[in-house]
Amino acid sequence: MSKCRIICVANQKGGTGKTTSSWNTGYALAKEGKAVLMVDNDPQANLSMVFGIDRPDRLEISMSDILRTIMQDEELPDMSSYIHKGNRPGMVLDIIPANQNLSVTEINLRDEMGGEHTLAGLLNPLREYYDFIIVDTNPYLGLLTINALAAADECIIPVSLQLWSATGLTDLLQTIVKVKKKINPNITIGGILLTICDERTKLFKDAKDLIEESYGGKIKIFDTHIPSTVKIGEANYSSLSVIEHDPKSRASIAYANFAKEVMNNGGK
Ligand SMILES: Nc1ncnc2c1ncn2[C@@H]1O[C@H](COP(=O)(O)OP(=O)(O)O)[C@@H](O)[C@H]1O
Ligand SMILES: [Mg+2]
Repeated sequence: MSKCRIICVANQKGGTGKTTSSWNTGYALAKEGKAVLMVDNDPQANLSMVFGIDRPDRLEISMSDILRTIMQDEELPDMSSYIHKGNRPGMVLDIIPANQNLSVTEINLRDEMGGEHTLAGLLNPLREYYDFIIVDTNPYLGLLTINALAAADECIIPVSLQLWSATGLTDLLQTIVKVKKKINPNITIGGILLTICDERTKLFKDAKDLIEESYGGKIKIFDTHIPSTVKIGEANYSSLSVIEHDPKSRASIAYANFAKEVMNNGGK
C-alpha cells in the first residue's frame, strides 16, 4: 500500500462546504480504488450523518470515547468497535463517527498535557490500513481543529465564495503556521478549494480574482472548483455521495476531478 496521507479539511467558518467536500472527496478517492478512512472530528456529526449513521447520539463508541481513552493512556478497544465499515461494494470507505459528546472532549483536551496530539495518537497507527485519512473539522479554531492540524500531513481549505472574507482565512493560516512551528512541522497547506460556486455571477468572478490576487502566489488554489447545485443538498439528505445520487451532475464531475488533483498534489 502506498504511503498514507492524512488530510485535514478546515475552515473555522461554518457552511463553507467542509463536510460536503470531506465526504465527496473521500467517496471519489475510494472510487478510484484508494482505501479511505473518514474521521468526523465535529460534535455536530454532519459527516457521520451523510455517511449514513442516522442517530450518532446512540453510538456506543464514538470519537469522544476514543479520544478520552487515549488521553487517559488506557488501551483502545478493538478497531472494529469504533471504525464503521462502509457498505459500498468494492470500495474501502470507512468512518470513525462522532456525536455531540465530542464538545465535552474539546473542553477536557485543554487540561491535558500534550492534548494537541491526542488525535494523532489515534490516527498514526491506522496509517498502515489506509491510503487516505480525511478529517472533517468543526467551525472553530479550538482544540479539536488544532488536534486535526497536529495529526495531518496536509490541510485543504474549502472556501465558499458566497461567504468569502479575507480576515477569516488569515486567522486559519496563522493558526496553521503556529501549528507547523510548535506542534507538527510536517504539515503543509494542500490548497484552497473553491466551493458552492455560481460561475454565472459577477460575485464569483470578483471573489475568485481577489483570492487569486491575495493568495495565488503563496498557496495553491485547486484548478477544480465545486459548482453550487441543489444536487448536493439532495445527496447529503439521502446519505449519498453526489456521485452516487447523480453521476452526471456538475458537482459529481467536479469532485471526481478534485480527487484526482488531490492524488496528484501530494505524497510529498
Ligand atoms: N456545491 C454545493 N452546492 C450547493 N449547496 C452546497 C454545496 N456544498 C455544500 N452545500 C450546502 O451548504 C451547506 C453547508 O455545507 P457543509 O458541507 O455542511 O459546510 P461546513 O461543513 O463547512 O459547515 C449544506 O447545507 C450543504 O448541503
Ligand atoms: Mg461541517
